[in-house]
Amino acid sequence: MSMAVRSTRLVCGPRGALLLLLLVLLSALVVLHKVTQSPLLNQTKILQDHLRGQHGRYVRSTRTILLWTDFFGDPRWKLSWDTLGPQELRDELHCPVYQCEISNQHAFLPAVELYDAIVFHAAEMFPLLRPVPPQRSPHQAYVFALMEPPGETKHRLDDEQGFYNFTMTYRIDSDVFWPYGQLLDIATNAVVAPSVKPHWWKPPATFNDSLVWDFWSEKTKTAAWFVSHCETLSRREVLAKRLQEFFDVDIYGKCGTLSCIRGDPRCDEMLDTDYFFYLAFENSLCDDYVTEKLFDALQRTVIPVVFGGADYSRILPPHSYIDANRFETVEELAKYMSYVAGDPDLYVSYFWWRRHYRLVSSSPFCELCARLHAPAFGHKTQFYDDIQSWWFNSCRLESRIRL
Ligand SMILES: *[C@@H]1O[C@H](CO)[C@@H](O)[C@H](O)[C@H]1NC(C)=O
Ligand SMILES: *[C@@H]1O[C@H](CO)[C@@H](O)[C@H](O)[C@H]1NC(C)=O
Ligand SMILES: *[C@@H]1O[C@H](CO)[C@@H](O)[C@H](O)[C@H]1NC(C)=O
Repeated sequence: MSMAVRSTRLVCGPRGALLLLLLVLLSALVVLHKVTQSPLLNQTKILQDHLRGQHGRYVRSTRTILLWTDFFGDPRWKLSWDTLGPQELRDELHCPVYQCEISNQHAFLPAVELYDAIVFHAAEMFPLLRPVPPQRSPHQAYVFALMEPPGETKHRLDDEQGFYNFTMTYRIDSDVFWPYGQLLDIATNAVVAPSVKPHWWKPPATFNDSLVWDFWSEKTKTAAWFVSHCETLSRREVLAKRLQEFFDVDIYGKCGTLSCIRGDPRCDEMLDTDYFFYLAFENSLCDDYVTEKLFDALQRTVIPVVFGGADYSRILPPHSYIDANRFETVEELAKYMSYVAGDPDLYVSYFWWRRHYRLVSSSPFCELCARLHAPAFGHKTQFYDDIQSWWFNSCRLESRIRL
């Protein structure tokens, strides 16, 4: 009892105060030690520690994506900065899942195996021009990114078996879908196409629109085509030439006799005012392959005549385009085009979809970011054993319409 009293007195005395000070100092030292040793100060360590799967239920909030190659000479892949963080993904790209960092700076993280995903433009001549990453973690996804059809792919991909984990292309069955354009349902705000089985509204039995009608009444020329690659695998140039047997096809650019300066608004405006049809002909006949020319044409009051390898019902609303491959001969196609151009009610009815759908563009990096946050990522490994056949088996050389 007396011991306890004495010790109480001790603490309250001047020696007690000294002891207290010592204690405070000691804990300050411990905190300081903790702070200096904090993994926050060792980026490598914190990132290594937080690699998925190693810490059970702990989920790191930000994923990092490294752009390993350029994209057609553009190190930023059409993004606005060298490095984008969650804020840019949310505010600029409007990504629903935006907790990602995207950078083309190879030293953004201290070691290459720390990135969650590394994106390769498969049309670049790597590993010739830029060697592949020296180290690879089993937690990372190597991404095969490509927007050109197989026939335009600059290399054969035969040395890249088992290399890629994800595909990011215009093909709908890609892991990360990267379309040239998308259609959004105005009523639901949902993106409906391109997709495997879009749920389209039915075209109405009758449709009229005074704006389209007015344009129709001023149009005088049948078809326009802006083109710069003259000889193609799809032989679209033959189709255009054969159509010229039936009516004028105005060919702008290197492959034709007319010119319109790229970017001049007049070029697009004349599609509204002068032409009944725009030829949205693709250079290759490949699954899902449609380019921005098609989506550009949809912005104008002109009916696109499409020619490609895609199933266009996956991409565009019914009765909004004319598919050349629905005809057996060029003559049948030409006759049908002339018939539509000459019938204003029919012509105008091709624009019914504008009341229901709106064209939007989205960034593939939103989907990639979401994919890296999906529960499966980090729990399930996947890779392409034979990227070559996945990629090259999606094209045809013969069109249905006889050329
Ligand atoms: C950071 O952590 C890594 C991995 O634990 C270690 O190899 C490295 O030496 C650390 N760096 C510093 C500066 O402590
Ligand atoms: C469609 O609208 C135009 C212009 O408003 C009008 O001239 C035309 O008669 C209409 N067509 C039908 C079938 O109502
Ligand atoms: C990616 O593929 C490699 C095989 O090339 C594999 O070792 C790795 O675990 C895969 N990563 C993911 C995230 O699936």
